[in-house]
Amino acid sequence: MCGIIGYIGQNKDFITKQMINSLKKLEYRGYDSSGICLLCDSEFKVYKSLGEIKNLEQVANYNVLSHMAIAHTRWATHGKVCFENIHPHTSQKGNWSLVHNGIIENYEELKLKYLKDVSFYGETDTEILPNLMEKFGFYETLKLLKGSFGICAINKNEPNKMYVARQHSPLYVATNNNVSMVASDPIVFADKFEYYTPLQEQSYAVVEFNKVKFFDFNNEEISPQKHKLGVFEKSAQKGNYPYFAEKEIKEIPRVLENVIENYEQTPYLEKIDYNFLKNIEKIYLIGCGTAYHACLMGEKYIEKNAKIPCKAFYASEFRYSPPIINEKTLCIYSSQSGETADTLMSLNLAKEKGAKTIALVNVPYSSIAKNCDIILPICAGMEIAVISTKAYSSMLFVFYLLAKHLENIKNNKKYDKNIINNLKILKKCNFLKNINKINKFVNLINNNEKIFFIGKDEDYITSMEASLKLKEITYINCISIPSGELKHGTLALVDDKSLVFVTATNKDVLDKNLASASEIKSRLGKIVLVTNLTLSKQDLKNVDYLFTFDSCPMELSSMLAITFYQYLAYKTCISKKLNPDKPRNLAKSVTVE
Ligand code: G6P
Repeated sequence: MCGIIGYIGQNKDFITKQMINSLKKLEYRGYDSSGICLLCDSEFKVYKSLGEIKNLEQVANYNVLSHMAIAHTRWATHGKVCFENIHPHTSQKGNWSLVHNGIIENYEELKLKYLKDVSFYGETDTEILPNLMEKFGFYETLKLLKGSFGICAINKNEPNKMYVARQHSPLYVATNNNVSMVASDPIVFADKFEYYTPLQEQSYAVVEFNKVKFFDFNNEEISPQKHKLGVFEKSAQKGNYPYFAEKEIKEIPRVLENVIENYEQTPYLEKIDYNFLKNIEKIYLIGCGTAYHACLMGEKYIEKNAKIPCKAFYASEFRYSPPIINEKTLCIYSSQSGETADTLMSLNLAKEKGAKTIALVNVPYSSIAKNCDIILPICAGMEIAVISTKAYSSMLFVFYLLAKHLENIKNNKKYDKNIINNLKILKKCNFLKNINKINKFVNLINNNEKIFFIGKDEDYITSMEASLKLKEITYINCISIPSGELKHGTLALVDDKSLVFVTATNKDVLDKNLASASEIKSRLGKIVLVTNLTLSKQDLKNVDYLFTFDSCPMELSSMLAITFYQYLAYKTCISKKLNPDKPRNLAKSVTVE
């Protein structure tokens, strides 16, 4: 959510193009507007544009020489999407310019207390920051702030320094002999640097072209650990695919192999042993959005296999309406980015109460990964499209392995790497079987007014994720509901303009699902049955359209079923000529509450 770039070099150069290219790598964090500020011969040259970064490319000047610049891509929180609110923001006196990710919670208060003499041009919380720095300097300003921030600031009168700071918002610095850069994601550093340093929580840094000094908020110098740039940070290429979304859905079989290979090579689960689990009475699984749906599935897998009471929570609910948490609680945090603010804050809450913690994350260097007792990497590789697809599938693979492992530990057995064999069965399956028939279903969606997704048990969770995928990138207002619940209210919506996707992977409850289908039929709704079960003619009596995906053991079926829905949402989005990688109003990494 909001991407930040900072650049300081030894010599002047034409750096506009490089800044914009770096900014593009962060566009997944927001694309409401973008801007760049270059320091050129003691003057700031600022270029701004609404919408995607390609618009900034049109208005930026590539012929200016500069050795220092900051840039920003915005996902609006405080202040609407308009020109005045675009970052970088410059102080009224014109000496400080900065970019910010996060929310300054006490900005109104600080404005009234210290900045009555300033006329503000926009409505953002950020605009107070350069003005406070004019009055108090960088460090003294930090001490006044409440909320979350990743900041990169420059001062006209100090052309050899960039000031950066973080509180609850990730920020990274990289340096070599003649250039230093700052970014809110180290993917920006790929091909340019070998090492980078994450800013520690509640710390700041003074960045020069060849060195960086780090300080905590008490102004004590600190030495945070350097990291080598890994394959993960370098893997953000679209290749020949038109969109990341398509690439990432089609990568799912490869992701499965990655999970299997990684968990075979490194016994990540081994650390969750008898001692770790001793006294654990309850497991909470916490996430947001798609990661929350993965938690719901994790809850099913763990309860069914390990028979330990589990409950999945939206991270935002967990924070403000927490269940009983103590040393007998295990909290599992599921997050692709590992930076989602609500998930991270829920982790802090659980740690304060003495709970044990596990991170199920994709980004290995993320805050959630770093702050949990145990990390279970989901090994999905970089996910760029705002909709989470392969990371969801990958979370299911890892939750499933975890459930099998917990079952062993519960039965006093040791870590057994053969549990991975259960997942290997999926390698023989075709995740995209029958996908060439997808256009028929795209047309059905486009020709109906109301779209419903129903199912039972795990199939209901698949329905929830299917519905979320469709609404995220097609803006179709659709509903998911347990099939048995339909008749308790939602059935009132069903008419001859309704299309209902029924997911059915469990033979034992097929007749119940089909009973719901007949309720829909009698209200003139149309039924699409999505299944990998073998069905009789009688079963298909009320079914208008059938989609069959590859068969596999029932406990793995949800991992295959979701790929159909992910691809269906993608194709529907394309049919509407929308961009699946950048849905309106959304951002991939939501680092504000
Ligand atoms: C945002 C994204 C969703 C994602 C959610 C949780 O809302 O748009 O696609 O599922 O955040 O993200 P996380 O990185 O924690 O999995």
